[in-house]
Amino acid sequence: MKIKVNENFGNLKPNYLFSETAQKARKYRAEHPDQKVISLGIGDVTQPLAPVVIEAMQKAVLEMGVKETFRGYAPEYGYDFIREAIAGYYVNKLNIAVKANEVFVGDGAKSDLGNIVDILGDNRILIPDPVYPVYMDSNIMSGRSVTLLPATAENNFLPTPPDDDIPSVVYLCSPNNPTGAVYDYDKLKKWVDYAKKTGSLIIFDSAYESYIREDLPHSIFAIEGARDCAIEINSLSKMAGFTGTRMGYTVIPETLTSGEFNLNKMWARRQATKFNGVPYVVQRAGEAVFTERGLKECKDLVDYYLENAKLIAELLEKKGVWFTGGVNSPYIWLKCPDGFDSWSFFDYLLEKAQIIGTPGVGFGANGEGYFRLTSFGSRENTLEAVARLDKLL
Ligand code: MLT
Repeated sequence: MKIKVNENFGNLKPNYLFSETAQKARKYRAEHPDQKVISLGIGDVTQPLAPVVIEAMQKAVLEMGVKETFRGYAPEYGYDFIREAIAGYYVNKLNIAVKANEVFVGDGAKSDLGNIVDILGDNRILIPDPVYPVYMDSNIMSGRSVTLLPATAENNFLPTPPDDDIPSVVYLCSPNNPTGAVYDYDKLKKWVDYAKKTGSLIIFDSAYESYIREDLPHSIFAIEGARDCAIEINSLSKMAGFTGTRMGYTVIPETLTSGEFNLNKMWARRQATKFNGVPYVVQRAGEAVFTERGLKECKDLVDYYLENAKLIAELLEKKGVWFTGGVNSPYIWLKCPDGFDSWSFFDYLLEKAQIIGTPGVGFGANGEGYFRLTSFGSRENTLEAVARLDKLL
């Protein structure tokens, strides 16, 4: 062919981080069919959906089989019932004013984080290093150059705003993937103040907010002034075990504007053109998550994973391995022992203990020498992994 392709793809690493770890794990499993490999790698949940969610899905499935209650295309932004349920969660549980028309339901945070670049122009892009790779990859794909914000042990993996006046698009993730670091109110306010002062936009990834157990902000909109400078993207994957069910949402204040453009309307236009909505059955499942019973059952699920994190953390403490995270977060971020770099520690754990983790360097250059373990395994597998690590480290 002689067509022009998007040559920006040439600037990406050949593989998406989790495709690469999965590929290595598949190869190892194929070569060692007799060994039980335990994944503490990608943050994929293992516990079944909450009973209230299953009941809602079953009811919705039956509705789809009856002429009178059958539904076709879902509204692009979500049915009113789910937009209202999510806005109600903000208002009643987080004490934050969000309106239903500010909530856009999508098929997960990954898609919305990847697609949000569609409504943005050519700006300075600030991305923490290390962080969830989708921010970086989606900006590279759209031909944007990125300025990295070092997240290191020195700043407790929580970068602070630059000392300049350049209007920028800033990605923040708190609780952070992969380090587990969480911004407190004061530190987050510094970002909001910076954004307001410079005319910048914060894209706030709150996918792990339901893991917060201390007095820390669950949402960027908990900070005064954020409605003038922020978008929030969240997911039911980690909050309610929807990794395979697929639902997330983006909150864009109805008054958020840059120049003559209203970002809420732009995203609505983008979604109407490129997205046909989340399936009705899934939206009913999502609605169930935000009921009193749903929030209680999902909190139990999150508590289960936090207990796994505690078990892993206790072992690392016992072994004198430096780590952070594991509280207010499902991820444990450890310093590779014995001078291993991230990928060689990945290989070492796989070879010697049949445990898959995620190399820190995959989240950015500052992650080199670090390693991420997830608490999303089953209790049985987590305990077995802990026992294996106890022997190995
Ligand atoms: C992770 O392991 O970082 C996440 O599961 C990836 C994701 O949510 O897409």
